[in-house]
Amino acid sequence: MTIPTTLFVNAAQTVTCAGPGRARRGAEMREAGVCSGVGLAVEGARIVAVAPDEELRQRYAGASEVDCQRGLLAPGFVDSHTHAVFGAPRYAEHELRATGVPYMEIARQGGGIHSSVRDLRARSDEELFALAVPRLARLAAGGVTTLEVKSGYGLSVHDELRSLRVIKRLADAGPLRVVPTCLAAHEIPLEYRERTNGGDEWISAICEDLYPVVQREQLAVFADVFCEPGVYGVDASRRVLEGGRRYGLRPKLHADELHDGGAAVLAAALGAVSADHLAAVSPAGVAALAGSSTVATALPATMLFLGTGRQAPVRALIEAGAAVALASDFNPGTSPLQAFPLVLTLAVSELRMLAAEAWIAATVNGAAALGLANETGQLAVGYRADIALHAVDDYRALPYWFGERLCFGSWSGGRACHVTP
Ligand code: NIG
Ligand code: FE
Repeated sequence: MTIPTTLFVNAAQTVTCAGPGRARRGAEMREAGVCSGVGLAVEGARIVAVAPDEELRQRYAGASEVDCQRGLLAPGFVDSHTHAVFGAPRYAEHELRATGVPYMEIARQGGGIHSSVRDLRARSDEELFALAVPRLARLAAGGVTTLEVKSGYGLSVHDELRSLRVIKRLADAGPLRVVPTCLAAHEIPLEYRERTNGGDEWISAICEDLYPVVQREQLAVFADVFCEPGVYGVDASRRVLEGGRRYGLRPKLHADELHDGGAAVLAAALGAVSADHLAAVSPAGVAALAGSSTVATALPATMLFLGTGRQAPVRALIEAGAAVALASDFNPGTSPLQAFPLVLTLAVSELRMLAAEAWIAATVNGAAALGLANETGQLAVGYRADIALHAVDDYRALPYWFGERLCFGSWSGGRACHVTP
């Protein structure tokens, strides 16, 4: 049986991000493969040709066509860091911070992540799934075609497994590609926090009771930890991540988000797939990441929403030779952002990235932060047909016209996620 071919033609501009199927560093991050008059041929889940429109029409005569309407043809964004499975939003906390109460103080008082934990534990799996579906649809409507989703609002073996099973259901339901991460070490559960060595006991429960089931049911690809002074220090984080590795889970970290605690150095030493946040990373952390294979993921929407006036030193990271990715950190506490293109705006305006660097960071390097750089993140032959169309005629226009909803089509593995008529 032959697979039907679909052509994506009539784009004003195409940003392919084509190149090596690995994280890009330094000057490579400026090569976004911007061209005009170029379209795609897609068969099933794969891109089979990238060529001028006329050549495609000749080679695939009679193929159906998607009209790019003189817009921008681009790879779908790879959002490599989200916490999309949660219950209620946290409006009160947003205002509390405005009155001067810091994020960590709210957590110390039992709010913040802990309030999302209480809320999640009280909801059914069905409810959690139903709440997440429209959120993923909104991400897809911004051009995201692959996303990572973390657990971390369960914080008991039972509720972490429930969260991970909901994430698996989202992955199975499609059409977005969902990559699951076990973030059981998102906080120290309140019921453990009051005990002497409570944090260590919870890590033992994660390693001995949770990870074996996660592996058996294939519920996660990565293990993550909130490595931050006052939550999990470097030794505790190492235990969480080395424990995960014994069960086939690759390490990722929430690293040096609010204070430098040596998390980026730990990430590099462990060969973590990514170190995320980095708003408080030290020069030693920057150097360690630059000399490692760990992707440095900036989450600029989080720092904007927290109002810290601080951002990850992305210029220093790029100049030192680190591979930088961008993600939304979509979550109810610090980044309720579902319109992904705003991340590109913040990348240019706050992180001082060039638009081309922002595109590479949100596609190829996002894929690398999920170990998928040889499968997605670029418009190239053999890659997954993860595609987005935006109603602009220049790749720099997407970060520029901020706050607009400009994506009018997205496809993950060739399946439509979001198409406006
Ligand atoms: O990436 N800081 C840790 N985790 C999230 C926030 C989660 C929350 O506040 O619910 C983050 O910022
Ligand atoms: Fe996060």
